[in-house]
Amino acid sequence: MSLPDLEEISVAVIGLGYVGLPLAVSLSTRFPVVGFDLDTDRVAELSVGVDRTGEVPAAGLEGCGVRWTSRADDMRGVNVFIIAVPTPVDAENQPDLSAVLAACRTVGGVLSEGAVVIVESTVHPGVTEQVCGPELAQASGLACGDGFFLGYSPERVNPGDHEHTVDKITKVVAGQTPEVAQFLAELYGAITNGNVFVARDIRTAEAAKIIENAQRDINIAFINEMAMIFEKMGVSTHDVLAAAATKWNFLDFQPGLVGGHCIGIDPYYLAHAARLAGHDPAIVLAGRQINDGMAGFAAERISSRLPESARVLVLGLTFKENVSDLRNSKVAELIASLSALGHAVEVHDSRADRAEALEMYGIELTGDLADCREFDAVVGAVAHDEYRNLGVDEVMALIKPAGLCADLKGIWRHHALPPEVGYWQL
Ligand SMILES: NC(=O)c1ccc[n+]([C@@H]2O[C@H](COP(=O)([O-])OP(=O)(O)OC[C@H]3O[C@@H](n4cnc5c(N)ncnc54)[C@H](O)[C@@H]3O)[C@@H](O)[C@H]2O)c1
Repeated sequence: MSLPDLEEISVAVIGLGYVGLPLAVSLSTRFPVVGFDLDTDRVAELSVGVDRTGEVPAAGLEGCGVRWTSRADDMRGVNVFIIAVPTPVDAENQPDLSAVLAACRTVGGVLSEGAVVIVESTVHPGVTEQVCGPELAQASGLACGDGFFLGYSPERVNPGDHEHTVDKITKVVAGQTPEVAQFLAELYGAITNGNVFVARDIRTAEAAKIIENAQRDINIAFINEMAMIFEKMGVSTHDVLAAAATKWNFLDFQPGLVGGHCIGIDPYYLAHAARLAGHDPAIVLAGRQINDGMAGFAAERISSRLPESARVLVLGLTFKENVSDLRNSKVAELIASLSALGHAVEVHDSRADRAEALEMYGIELTGDLADCREFDAVVGAVAHDEYRNLGVDEVMALIKPAGLCADLKGIWRHHALPPEVGYWQL
């Protein structure tokens, strides 16, 4: 069975989230595209030009030609399937491949002979060929590598980053044979101006993706550990980093809470794969342990500077700056820890959806920052631009005259706060 010709390609993208949606829109500039998602609300919104994740503007959705659907049958006849569904961890921090397996079963049900199935979800080495391949074969009745072909192409998009978009970055591709790899190179090359890197094989590409994020996690963990040490020494971590960063090969990482669904998750996939291979990972899990402990550490240090039952205002709840994504936010842990220490915490986030915050964390976001006054402490937890740009007077307006300014991201460290104000930075 031969691979589809480039001119005959039609694509289905399965999973229209942060990864799948921009990809579907980008591919639609060159190929007919069906965008499939189980979430009927998401499909309905996309159909009227609304992307609640803010990754694709209405202008990008309007007239892009993608056929949005929740009906698997609408993918029949398509010859390239791209799976971009979530790969979280379970309560024991073990890989949860249930969405990937469900997507494989859906694809298997509509797979036709000669089609190519590409996994874009982040998975550990071996998953595409040893888990997805058999699942697809069973659901379709076709033989993997003969009736259909497997490819893998990891995704590098960075939510909120409108510079490194899918069409501007190098796309790593791999196939179960050199011919399939070449097919992927041409497919993705059509939307990246040929900017593709062909990895040796699928396992290599899977491994490359997973270490990109694990490497970030470990580097941040190192800086977080330094922050704990410098805190004890009474030295500003941010000032140390500003000085050290003047060396040409010093790596620029900042301390902070590591949430979201990539950097804090993918190392657990790597750890799982390491154990399967017979190696007990030391550094990978040590990094995770430090980063997972940062919310508790910050809460304890802030609380030690507060009176009992203090009123605390936390600015920011999303998992990182300038995005609306609340999933796996470590700020929620910080808030829970501060509350458990007896403080009354109010939370403001200019970007988060109020209903989602309530549903996900039981947190009722306060409305207008202008109404937030006389707190014992303000905690700058997420560096949204609008918090970063608060002037001294605006920060002071939030707290009592001798209140505490807890600056997790070091965004106000150059403010000349009155001497009676306490200042703490991570
Ligand atoms: N978000 C990122 O920054 C990023 C970056 C690189 C890689 N990744 C990886 O890409 C993958 C997708 O992540 P995301 O952030 O786009 O997730 P997401 O949660 O934003 O979107 C996933 C979408 O898949 C849909 N879905 C779930 N199960 C499905 C199924 N069986 N069939 C069809 N649709 C289904 C959901 O409804 C959702 O709309 C994950 O493996 C993630 O690790 C994410």
